[in-house]
Amino acid sequence: MLKINKKLLISISAAAVLSLGLSACMENASPTNSDAAVKASIDGGVSYPVENGKTSSYDVNTNAHGADVKYGRTPTKAEYDAWNTDIMPDGTGLPEGHGTADEGSDIYDAKCTMCHGDFGSGGGGYPSLAKGNAYDLHKTLTNQRIKPNDDGPVRVFGSYWPHVTTLFWYIKDAMPHPMTGSLTDDEVYSLVAFILNANEMKIDGVEVDDDYVLNRKKLLDVKMPNRNGFEPNIDGPNGPENVRKFYANPKNFGGQTYDVKNPASRCMKNCQEPTAKVVYIKNGGIHDFHPPLSNVKDLPKVKNTAFNAKKAYTANCAMCHGAEGMGAPVLGSKADWAPYIAKGMNDVYKNGIKGINGMPPKGGSSLSDADFKLVVDYIVNQSK
Ligand code: HEC
Ligand code: HEC
Repeated sequence: MLKINKKLLISISAAAVLSLGLSACMENASPTNSDAAVKASIDGGVSYPVENGKTSSYDVNTNAHGADVKYGRTPTKAEYDAWNTDIMPDGTGLPEGHGTADEGSDIYDAKCTMCHGDFGSGGGGYPSLAKGNAYDLHKTLTNQRIKPNDDGPVRVFGSYWPHVTTLFWYIKDAMPHPMTGSLTDDEVYSLVAFILNANEMKIDGVEVDDDYVLNRKKLLDVKMPNRNGFEPNIDGPNGPENVRKFYANPKNFGGQTYDVKNPASRCMKNCQEPTAKVVYIKNGGIHDFHPPLSNVKDLPKVKNTAFNAKKAYTANCAMCHGAEGMGAPVLGSKADWAPYIAKGMNDVYKNGIKGINGMPPKGGSSLSDADFKLVVDYIVNQSK
């Protein structure tokens, strides 16, 4: 049993290192070069050697091969350039060419329908390329699914993608799935025209019908309905800074600010603090909070509900001590109380608490000892 556990632990920690790419972390946790370590197989059965207490996670296991291993070769510039295509919204990288939706339809039937379905309808795990009028579907993007059967947002190329050039790029680079890079530029223009047609889209107010000749210039005139639908703007050198600014304000992502003026109110809007809460994990524990956690350990202050001895007397004692003839010493009678007080107050308290000669314990009340004594003091003071 113990053996199994040990093995398990080792393969888990080795896998964690792989996924994080942090071999230095293994300093303490790494297995020693024992049998268990050699057998711990991860990543297709390869055992990574442990050197100086560290698992050489991403290194090629040269020990296993007994010689230096070299994979592949540096690609030639031509090979590299053939793969390194970028087709940008401003037209950078977009080749000249042309094609119609009609031509695209034939290519689509031959090379795309088997996965993406008729007219880009999708299905069987393959994405839809069109679901109807892009401009109408764009309006669904703000739909909220509050109940399970509510219509959610419809995200397809036409309704969702911000740049039409990405469609060209995607098809040219990555489709058809089993034969990437096999389409000519004109074929891609035709396919893009076909997909624009299936999304019922217009270019400069003109519908992309079957015979519409799409070319480079026309393509760059396409205005995608969701072109301004993404924020923050992650493009360009200011992208990372835009993202930081965006997430610094919770209002940008549905959060709200906290009602500082009336913190106890049940908050229906403006409820969240303006700065995001940050928690640091240091030295193995949650260490630092922003805003800081309170370290005041007092109990909350209880309202001053001063014990009212007179009231307690009226409620618990007056029926016997309130009038003559009840067999109890009467409140206000110096003569009645003098003999009791003479014994000393400690005895008076004790007898009262325990009960004595027709005086039930604490007079039958549920007062605490301390409060009972306060009532005794009240009676005695009234009777001196
Ligand atoms: C063998 C199946 C297959 C064939 C054939 C195929 N595709 Fe695809 N296509 C896929 C898969 C799978 C994805 C999703 C890939 C992903 O999301 O990682 C995809 C994604 C796409 C997308 C992106 C859709 C989106 O909204 O994310 C487009 C556009 C596309 N294909 C166009 C085409 C065109 C045009 C053809 C024909 C030239 C084609 N595909 C042929 C399997 C295929
Ligand atoms: C059921 C009637 C009854 C009630 C109710 C009652 N008492 Fe008494 N109490 C007596 C009697 C009878 C005596 C006299 C006992 C004796 O003389 O030995 C007595 C005696 C006492 C004594 C003197 C005890 C001693 O022997 O030193 C104190 C003090 C006292 N009561 C306080 C209270 C207080 C305070 C309450 C209300 C919280 C209370 N009593 C309610 C009947 C009552």
